[in-house]
Amino acid sequence: MKFCVTTPIYYINGDPHIGHAYASIAADIMARFARLDGMEVHFSTGTDEHGVKVARSAESAGMDVLEFSDLMSQRFRNMSDKINMSYDDFIRTTEKRHEKAAQTLWNMIEKDIYCDTYAGWYSARDEEYVTESDVVDGKAPSGASVEWMEEASYFFKLSDYQDKLLDWYEKNPDFILPTSRRNEVISFVKGGLKDLSISRSKFTWGIPIPHLDGHVMYVWIDALTNYLTSLGYPDPEKAVYVSEMMENCVHVVGKEILRFHAVYWPAFLMSAGLRLPKRIYAHGWWTSEGQKMSKSVGNVVDPHEIIEEYGLDQVRYFLFREVKFGEDGDFSKSAIKKRISFDLANDLGNLVQRVLAFIQKIGGRLVVDYDFSEDERKLFENSRSLINRVRPLMEKQDLHASMSTVWELIAESNKFVNDMRPWELVKNNPQKLNKVITALCESIRSISFGLAPFMPDTAQKIFNFINVEGKSFEEIKSNFADQDFQEPFTLFPKDN
Ligand code: MSP
Repeated sequence: MKFCVTTPIYYINGDPHIGHAYASIAADIMARFARLDGMEVHFSTGTDEHGVKVARSAESAGMDVLEFSDLMSQRFRNMSDKINMSYDDFIRTTEKRHEKAAQTLWNMIEKDIYCDTYAGWYSARDEEYVTESDVVDGKAPSGASVEWMEEASYFFKLSDYQDKLLDWYEKNPDFILPTSRRNEVISFVKGGLKDLSISRSKFTWGIPIPHLDGHVMYVWIDALTNYLTSLGYPDPEKAVYVSEMMENCVHVVGKEILRFHAVYWPAFLMSAGLRLPKRIYAHGWWTSEGQKMSKSVGNVVDPHEIIEEYGLDQVRYFLFREVKFGEDGDFSKSAIKKRISFDLANDLGNLVQRVLAFIQKIGGRLVVDYDFSEDERKLFENSRSLINRVRPLMEKQDLHASMSTVWELIAESNKFVNDMRPWELVKNNPQKLNKVITALCESIRSISFGLAPFMPDTAQKIFNFINVEGKSFEEIKSNFADQDFQEPFTLFPKDN
């Protein structure tokens, strides 16, 4: 089985912040889950480097635009590494391979392209023309200021795709998730689609259009094509791979760019006769301490800083546990501290510590006994089936419910320790003790696999404590053998 997952490719006119890290970690969780589940994965991320906004940012930094792009793109790569992102490809739209892919796609959709003049309000920040009625006080709906632009432009006959798109949404009810977002897109498309201007002649920082001097591609058609470039398009030898990966591809995007992905992108792909992705998942936005993040307020959350302060897995956990994936969230220091102390230190850390430290107390050796009575059997079965409960949630990118499901097993295991009182069994029922400890090792192993996509370092630490490789969910199916365990250390020190 193949699985493809993508992040948006990020504009390089500013530094990476927690919003970018969020989309990237989300996609990373999906990629890691799929790999552990035995799938062949292609996971791409990267930077979107063309467009008037980048050209202007380079200018105001007093830099050559390519030099500026190198510098800024590297910052996004650094962020990707800082958050432990397991990407297979980091794509830059200024690469030759991408220019070739975008130009090929252009040729493939040429039958739907015609030339006309465009005059209208343009928002450089959104890289988008804004309709007259949407401009209020000289601003686009996003709050960005608009300027009047007039240019000869090539247009894509998006209006021809209205019915085909509606038909696609109907036949593929999970194409857009969450469902509330799907409804928004459908009503937008039902409202009527205008043809889309897809070339620019007022500036040159973009991919040249084949055979058309003086025009560069509109940055969105350029950017969206990155998903194909990364898979190897247009190499004919990669055609089957591209198509199979696209068919199983989840594009993770922020809610503000859903329309580009759920309306324009499928229309381009339909026009080119290419496979549509499986899903567009639109996630919500983060504010910081109750306010929109902005440089002037000075509340932009820098991923490097919070990872230094709270720890990487702590941040990864917080972002996906604090709010439902798809909804907006607020980043606050008090909220992350609470999560670390309650969920991580008290629930998870305590379970691992009390069980493994106890094993050390009784000689550091696990002596297995799978001849379970009712009590242990229940925990054992719930542990073995954990991933089967999480998988259908992950298939719909319900990251939040997946984490909650893992935490239910943590709670059940902690309760099991309290009820079974192994410290008493050691004196009065050593046979039962082995069964109890065996069942608990099973639950700790399953919990660690459940955590692994979200908190890879933490999961690996626990795997090391219990001599588990941690590379595949298949490992959960095997019984533990008698063995010695190392002394565990505290996973989440309290002073954090
Ligand atoms: N370059 C386009 C995307 C092209 S994809 C073919 C773009 N880039 S962006 O730099 O503006 O980044 C957009 C993505 O970053 C959002 O869609 C979202 O995933 C993430 N976020 C940026 N700010 C965010 C928040 N404040 N909160 C959560 N995520 C946000 O649009």
